[in-house]
Amino acid sequence: MRYLTIALTKGRLAYTTLELLEKVGITCDEMKDKSSRKLIFTNEELGVRFFLAKANDVPTYVEYGAADIGICGKDTILEEGRKLYEVMDLGFGRCRMCVCGPESARERLKHHELIRVATKYPGIAKDYFYNKKHQTVEIIKLNGSIELAPLVGLSEVIVDIVETGSTLRENGLEVLEEICDLSARVIINQVSMKRENGRIAKLIKDLKYEIDRERR
Ligand code: PRP
Repeated sequence: MRYLTIALTKGRLAYTTLELLEKVGITCDEMKDKSSRKLIFTNEELGVRFFLAKANDVPTYVEYGAADIGICGKDTILEEGRKLYEVMDLGFGRCRMCVCGPESARERLKHHELIRVATKYPGIAKDYFYNKKHQTVEIIKLNGSIELAPLVGLSEVIVDIVETGSTLRENGLEVLEEICDLSARVIINQVSMKRENGRIAKLIKDLKYEIDRERR
């Protein structure tokens, strides 16, 4: 039997995903060891292989078929714009993509002034400002700690993920506009969807059943 390969997003999302997979009978005890540096884990009995990848790379592995299935955030799917099927919202990892900044930036944003936007998500920011708001802005790509940008004068606002809102609060920033809701999604390689249809359809059905059961 060919391995069914599942790409997981390193970090918090991986552990929540593993808990869910375990509930539908897809187990991998080896993977739960947080001190391990191993990247690929196999369950021979089930013919399933897991690997851990950086969030942004999960859609890439899935598009090229190096993974049949991927589990990653909607933010990554939107930003990467890869050719794949997004088949399911897992309902966890819920947060929002927002335009944030100091209260003083609200008016400048409203009056379509030429402002600078710092973000880890230039694709999402561009789509929002250019295609949805028809507003010209200067987008600056950063790789983390985005909230720093308006505090030190690199940009007027940021486009970033807001989960609890505490990073914003502790730094005197606010949500100025909401772009979209985000959560963990299941993505599937387009060829695998046909070739492995039976196994993939069963997995999706089991996951949906489990999520509905937990909601009840
Ligand atoms: C994310 C995001 C915000 C923060 C939001 O950063 O970029 O900074 O979490 O969470 P909160 O609303 O609960 O405070 P992450 O921790 O992933 O690190 P990063 O700064 O490297 O992007």
